[in-house]
Amino acid sequence: MTEWKGILLAGGRGSRLAPLTIASNKHLLPIWDKPMIYYPLSTLMLEGIREIAIISTPEAIPQLEALLQDGSQWGLSLTFFEQENPNGIAECFLIAEDFIGTANTALILGDNIFYGSGLPKRMAQAMQFESGATIFGYDVSDPSAFGVVTLNEQGLPISLVEKPKNSVSKLAIPGLYFYDKEVISIAKALEPSARGELEITGVNEAYLNRGTLRALPLGRGVAWLDGGHQRTCLRRANL
Ligand code: DAU
Repeated sequence: MTEWKGILLAGGRGSRLAPLTIASNKHLLPIWDKPMIYYPLSTLMLEGIREIAIISTPEAIPQLEALLQDGSQWGLSLTFFEQENPNGIAECFLIAEDFIGTANTALILGDNIFYGSGLPKRMAQAMQFESGATIFGYDVSDPSAFGVVTLNEQGLPISLVEKPKNSVSKLAIPGLYFYDKEVISIAKALEPSARGELEITGVNEAYLNRGTLRALPLGRGVAWLDGGHQRTCLRRANL
């Protein structure tokens, strides 16, 4: 059986949510009655992932450790890693290389909230594949704030673009990704993008070029909110 480990990425500057995030880590902000990070953590738990790396800024790690402890109270094993600078989402695979070992990895972004009865089935579908990578597609009216995937008539991914100004596709890629162990060598070969980040879209493109990327529709029955965009998430959840 394929071994899956989880990475929960909770660093970054949270600049879009300033001033809330000037002195606090975004993932500690309240979403209704819980800190934001509880939501992505429980998404990983939903699929039975128990060994999870939490990656965040050097300032936030002590707070996250105080909040989440070692995870054993929930039957989890949590390991904390610092990301010195926000060098991009894909840097998480370099930081957690030893933690991942030869396991497959489910990566969730710490500001992504998934809700709905359809989610366990969708995640189980993604985790049945031992090799390659699986991303999801979620219909949005304005894809310009996200990574976007275009599918062909057979539903196969044919192109990916990060934050397109004009896109033919409205399928945003949510921050929940499933990778085989190749992800580490793929991340190591990435060059920083024009904005100086190791892009997760670059990782997905490498799988696409190898012909081993799958894109599954999240579909009805699952709602997805990106908490990094105040207007979409914090407002909907807290007002
Ligand atoms: O939410 C889904 C989107 O997330 C995807 O569609 C995009 O392809 C992907 O690039 C990402 O876009 P965002 O602009 O929303 O990424 P953001 O900079 O907000 O970072 C997402 C999460 O990752 C957030 O919880 C902070 C964390 N992060 C980000 C970076 C760049 C880190 O922990 N370290 C980093 O270096």
